[in-house]
This record gives sequence, structure tokens and C-alpha cells, in this order.
Amino acid sequence: MEFLDQIRSFPEQIMSRNFFHIDRDFNNIVISGMGGSGIVGRIFSELYGMCPVQVVSDYEIPHYVNAKTLFIAISYSGNTEETLATVKQAREKGAQIKVITSGGELSKLGYETVKVPSGMQPRNALGYMLSPLLNSLMKIEQSEIDGAHEVLQTIERESSKLKQMAEEICSVGLVPWIVGYEPYVSTAYRWKTQFNENGKILAINSTIPELNHNETMPLKLSYGRERFYFISLGNPSLERTGKRLRITSDLTGIKFNNVKEYGSTMLQKVLSMIHSGDYISYYVAKIRGLDPMDVSLIEELKSRLS
Ligand code: PA5
Repeated sequence: MEFLDQIRSFPEQIMSRNFFHIDRDFNNIVISGMGGSGIVGRIFSELYGMCPVQVVSDYEIPHYVNAKTLFIAISYSGNTEETLATVKQAREKGAQIKVITSGGELSKLGYETVKVPSGMQPRNALGYMLSPLLNSLMKIEQSEIDGAHEVLQTIERESSKLKQMAEEICSVGLVPWIVGYEPYVSTAYRWKTQFNENGKILAINSTIPELNHNETMPLKLSYGRERFYFISLGNPSLERTGKRLRITSDLTGIKFNNVKEYGSTMLQKVLSMIHSGDYISYYVAKIRGLDPMDVSLIEELKSRLS
């Protein structure tokens, strides 16, 4: 499937009814995944508030993992070595293990597995990998998913502002700096990684209110600040955070290019903001004449490690 078609399939992906069974009670959730798979856990952890959720994007799991942990391994390829290493440890600790993958080694380990369609870039399969988490753990109403599907379909139609932002970034080679806040903390990180992988540009993400405790001074005084393109995502869920954003802009002289949010529920807003990030990073690649699909250096690195 063409890259753009993969992006366009996101609204359909989130309609997927895949889920896994919860076999026994748990009091914490650990989600293991790297890159385009790991982001699924980050997005979920910001939406879910019923118990602690920790996302592991490394070789080792936390010491507290035990039989009361729901451990979810997500790897699109099923062959990511860091994720496979964590599953082995989770098994030794007696955790309840579930898997989301399109195949590979992970699908052969005998755990309950949600199989997602293969042949895509992992980062473009976010909807397929997120749906089983939403369906199994959040019991989202179908009407909300239907609403999200509708909202997501408007993003490309209304993408002229995103194209213009991509032009502004590329015209003088700026580095996007994405400012997130609840409910878009993980989404800001997703935007950063999409700029990285699709657009092949460096990008930074940070968070308000934390930004007001460190980056605020250099936003005014640092050398190189003119090299950044500041982006703010939708509206913060807390009015106080919105006030912080406005005062930050006032004090530092930084203009935040705000991205419109769509939808009425938190889930719809977050999914639509993620999708806007998919498009803007795609436009950056196209403006630069690069292939958004290309992750050859990541693949080369993996093959040299094996
Ligand atoms: O988007 C990508 O291609 C990467 O970020 C991968 O997701 C990452 O390398 C992990 O691979 P996988 O998703 O197959 O576990």
C-alpha cells in the first residue's frame, strides 16, 4: 500500500473491533514497545486512568512487575529485540501477558495475540494497534468510535493549514518544537517522531507546565532560538495551562503556531491531533523530495546488531 494510503486508512483502523481477554485481576499495566509501536502505549497511558500504566521502551522491565501486572507487548514486526527481551522477563515474573503484532517471533510465543494486518509501516498502523487496548480496557462506546471515524475523515480535507505549516518549516529549514499539554503530551511526542521518521528532520517536544520550570528562560535568551518553529496543539484541558501558554508567549516573544483540534470527546480530539501530525510530517517529506516510507538506516542498524 502507498504511504499516503496507509495514512488515509487511520479512520478505518480505529473501527477495528479487535480485543484481548482479561484473564485475571491486575493492579498495574506495563506496555512494552519501541518506536512506532511504543507510541501506542504512550497514547493509551494518557487516555486511561484506571490504574498505573508504565510504558517500557528499552530492554528491561521494572522490578515491580509480578503476577498482578497486565503486561502488553506491542511490536508491529514482532521481531524487535528490546520488546522480545522484556516479554521473557515478564514471563519469569508471572505477569499476565498479551501481544499485539502483525507476526514475527512475538506471534509464536503462545500468548493471546491480536494480529494486525501486515505490510505497513509500524507508525502507520497505530489505529490497528491502539484499538485492542481501547476495546479491551476502556470499553469505549461504539458511538464515540463512529464519531472519531467521522472526525478523522475531515483532517485531510481541511489540511491546507498543515501544508502551509510544512512549507514554513521547510522554506528555511526550521526545527519543529512541539509544545504539548494534557491531553496532548504523548501526541506531541508522536508529532516529534513523525517529523523524524516521515519528514527526516530533527524535532523537539516538550510539555507545559514543565516547560515553565526550565525552558522558559532560553526561549527568550538562547542562541539559535530563531532556528525553531514552535507548534502548540489544540487547547489544553486545563484553563490554567492555557493561561501559562499565553503568558509564556508574551514573556518570551515566541509565536506558537496553533494546530486546530477536531471532535468533541478527548479520544476524538487526541486521535484527530495524531492524524494531523501524520499529514504534516508527510508533507514535509514531500516538500523535501524524500520518501516518507524510507527507514533504511533504522533497518541497517537493526541488521548490524543481529
Ligand atoms: O516506525 C518504525 O518503523 C519504527 O519506529 C519501529 O516501529 C521500531 O523500530 C520498532 O519496530 P516494531 O514496531 O516492528 O516493533
